[in-house]
Amino acid sequence: MIVVEKLTKCYAGTTAVDAISFHVNKGDIVGFLGPNGAGKSTTMRMLASYLPPTSGSATVAGYDIFRDSLKAREHIGYMPECVPIYQDMRVQEYLKYRAELKGVRGRRMKERLNDVYELCGLCEVQKKLISALSKGFRQRVGLADVLLHEPDLLILDEPTIGLDPNQIRQMRELIRKLGYHHTILLSTHILAEVEMTCNRVIIINHGKIEVVDTPQNLRARMQISGHVYLDIRHNNPREVAALLKTIPGIISIDFQQNGEWCEFRLQTTHDPREAIFEMALKYRWPLRELRRSQVSLEDIFADITHAEEI
Ligand SMILES: Nc1ncnc2c1ncn2[C@@H]1O[C@H](COP(=O)(O)OP(=O)(O)O)[C@@H](O)[C@H]1O
Ligand SMILES: [Mg+2]
Repeated sequence: MIVVEKLTKCYAGTTAVDAISFHVNKGDIVGFLGPNGAGKSTTMRMLASYLPPTSGSATVAGYDIFRDSLKAREHIGYMPECVPIYQDMRVQEYLKYRAELKGVRGRRMKERLNDVYELCGLCEVQKKLISALSKGFRQRVGLADVLLHEPDLLILDEPTIGLDPNQIRQMRELIRKLGYHHTILLSTHILAEVEMTCNRVIIINHGKIEVVDTPQNLRARMQISGHVYLDIRHNNPREVAALLKTIPGIISIDFQQNGEWCEFRLQTTHDPREAIFEMALKYRWPLRELRRSQVSLEDIFADITHAEEI
């Protein structure tokens, strides 16, 4: 559905997207992840043919995004990071206007409008002014707009940014529903979002693709390494650290004394909690905490960059 080859975008002084290549198959829901400034929006803008690439090429549904941009755009529904919506229009007026712009007219317009109201849960707010809607509803109007011309590919740039947890859940549910009939490329910061909706993940960092994998593999990869926190009552943390170091898979140990408690932070290649617990029993160390840190997207980014340096 999307084939990207050595796509590059340079702004004055910076290379925002650096010769990236990837493909998205029909029916895929791909999460496009990366820290701020990684180049996600720039890539999406190019794919939606809103921004000419400096070099490289991309096709959507077989059409070159620049030479055949009109044809390519027929297949694309692109929702930018900040949805440009006319605040002083009513939902109905706005979507009608957008449908006309897209050449969706007559009976088909009526059908499409009804479909998108239904799909995006906009039936009750049709007559409301857009300025009177919550951010969650405005975002849904943006999505409805994108769906009007029945594109088979949706390119959604951070569709849940700025929404509250409830609205995020609703938007996520909607995206998942859309995934039954559309191919989706979705950018986000939130790993959980990708795990719940996507079947593939592309991670971009400094304009380059670092990882292409399934969310499950990515999570499993991250389970390999992590941090373990433990508090032990002891007056000699060095002695404890030396013993902990004999447990296989512990890469590094930091500690600080806090009153009579020693607080340790271990970097590990696997989960060593059972061995730690047994050691604590053996040496009769009072233990008040033994916890593994949850893997966050930031950990994954850090891990990927770290792995590169080795
Ligand atoms: N119009 C622009 N002019 C100059 N630099 C830009 C412009 N848009 C984005 N950039 C730069 O390109 C890089 C990638 O930005 P962007 O694609 O917005 O990243 P992301 O969406 O992943 O946060 C950043 O370093 C950003 O500062
Ligand atoms: Mg962005």
